[in-house]
Amino acid sequence: INYNTVKFVASYGKASQIPPSTCPEVSFVGRSNVGKSSIMNKIFNRRNLVKVSSTPGKTANVNFFEADGVHFVDLPGYGFAQRSKGERDRWAQLIGDYFDLDRSFNLVVSLVDIRHDPSKLDHQMIEFLQEGEFPFIVALTKADKLSRNQQAKQTAAIKRQLNVPAKNVIVTSSESGQGIEELREIIEQYCLG
Ligand code: GTP
Ligand code: MG
Repeated sequence: INYNTVKFVASYGKASQIPPSTCPEVSFVGRSNVGKSSIMNKIFNRRNLVKVSSTPGKTANVNFFEADGVHFVDLPGYGFAQRSKGERDRWAQLIGDYFDLDRSFNLVVSLVDIRHDPSKLDHQMIEFLQEGEFPFIVALTKADKLSRNQQAKQTAAIKRQLNVPAKNVIVTSSESGQGIEELREIIEQYCLG
């Protein structure tokens, strides 16, 4: 995949507005502020194509990008405590409806902050993906915030807690670029076979 050809496609506030899949799709899920938008920029080698913010809840819509005939989907994050019940309900509806669509879900990248044990919502998201038999991998984010030693410890602990095959967990940083090439290759495998 030539990631440098990336373009913004469209933004949708409701799953019913999303047109049927026309190509392989890679979707990014995870709690608010975990680094979904940042990791997409890093994959594409772009600074601010996908909007990033230190304020949680930056991404409110389902945003489609396209590179070399593959769609990349930035989804709004979960677990932002300051959100009202109405906003949380909107998130659940939007994400639930999106994954309910009959689409070519080639790969879901489920992001979890390497510094913390997975939250209840992280567990729920991953159980949802397992039960729905979605092809997914777990990308541990913000690895630059830990030493290599701490990374290894946390990675082992998180793998144990999430009960995901070891080969489906990768350690990444959008700051240092750690794990990004590996992630690009995994995406290619799932999208291009
Ligand atoms: P929502 O859109 O709110 O769901 O958040 P998001 O998951 O898209 O997170 P986003 O990419 O906007 O990043 C949130 C914050 O974390 C920003 O301040 C980023 O600069 C920071 N951040 C993201 N990835 C990394 C990383 O790998 N290392 C470090 N140190 N900071 C990161
Ligand atoms: Mg975002």
